[in-house]
Amino acid sequence: MMRALTILGIESSCDDTAAALVRGTTGGAQVLSSVVEGQTSLHADFGGVVPEIAARAHAERLDGCVVQALDQAGLTLADVDAIAVTAGPGLIGGVMSGVALAKGLVAGSGKPLVGVNHLAGHALTPRLTDAAEYPYLMLLVSGGHCQFLLVRGAQEFTRIGGTIDDAPGEAFDKTARLLGLTQPGGPSVELEALTGDPKRFRLPRPLLDRAGCDMSFSGLKTALLRARDAIVVKKDGITRQDRADLCAGFQAAVSDVLAEKSRRAMTLYMEAAPTQPVLAVAGGVAANKSIRAALETVAHEFGAAFLSPPLTLCTDNAAMIAYAGLELFAAGQQDDFTLAARPRWPLDTSSPSMLGSGKKGAKA
Ligand code: KG4
Ligand code: ZN
Repeated sequence: MMRALTILGIESSCDDTAAALVRGTTGGAQVLSSVVEGQTSLHADFGGVVPEIAARAHAERLDGCVVQALDQAGLTLADVDAIAVTAGPGLIGGVMSGVALAKGLVAGSGKPLVGVNHLAGHALTPRLTDAAEYPYLMLLVSGGHCQFLLVRGAQEFTRIGGTIDDAPGEAFDKTARLLGLTQPGGPSVELEALTGDPKRFRLPRPLLDRAGCDMSFSGLKTALLRARDAIVVKKDGITRQDRADLCAGFQAAVSDVLAEKSRRAMTLYMEAAPTQPVLAVAGGVAANKSIRAALETVAHEFGAAFLSPPLTLCTDNAAMIAYAGLELFAAGQQDDFTLAARPRWPLDTSSPSMLGSGKKGAKA
């Protein structure tokens, strides 16, 4: 049996500075500590993440996060088997801050270095939280990404579809901006939608008429803008109820698209006849209760388990990087000081890159 490994994880690819310690074996690990310092307030005045500000904040805060994570776990660097760091994809300045810090720690401690793909961190989270067996189907749905992945191993990902333009989180954030709600938009839109009528505005369900698992969300944003402007022209403004109804209509459209495309992705996945079928979801949008419920229904239609990690492990964090690092290190991966920070790094290099593929978003 494999010996338990203790891995330090470092994450700085967007606007969360994070460090964590994870201990265990592949498919059976525990989070010893997980420190996440968000930067929402630093970017609040700019309507989005400013890469320069993010990179500087990471550089200032990363070492403190690592010290805190070690303290909380009651460990020192000497207790660590390897240091795992996000080496991409993401905002390059932030990724470079993390990689430089990890190299410094490696130089000082002599510990092995493991470069991790941020998306692999998200995609392997169901192994950390629920010991999910390979192969499972993962819907990664965040502010910068939206893709279906068949996860067969720590380095074996097949992308079977994804957005051809915006990511749903981006669309939620834009919707919030259009309706004067606070950022991040997802939680504000979800809250408003609670008192709204999802049927009043019948917003489009893009690409549902097209075969396959690809999705599109940019038209939905435009449709929402038109619906809002039509009310403004008619009534010289929008009421709270109008706003709630727009939010509910928007959320229902996103939810319908994700559910129907998940149905198609599940059909493809089930062809591989997995013994313990699993539909897993990760990324900030997976926090949305009505989207979660719709996806859970789809999983059950196929007799599959639905795995949705707790919110703290769904959004950006370093425990997922430590765990992915654990799987890679156990499989023999070790990087040296030539490890490079990469702004782009698709998980599945064999599938053609999609136009857009949520690349407009800073976050992954
Ligand atoms: O995973 P995440 O923290 O960052 C990355 O994109 O990696 O996801 C952030 C995105 C934002 O666009 C935010 O609006 C969205 O997830 N989000 C939600 C909800 N909570 C966060 N979208 C819909 N409903 C939510 N409850
Ligand atoms: Zn992410």
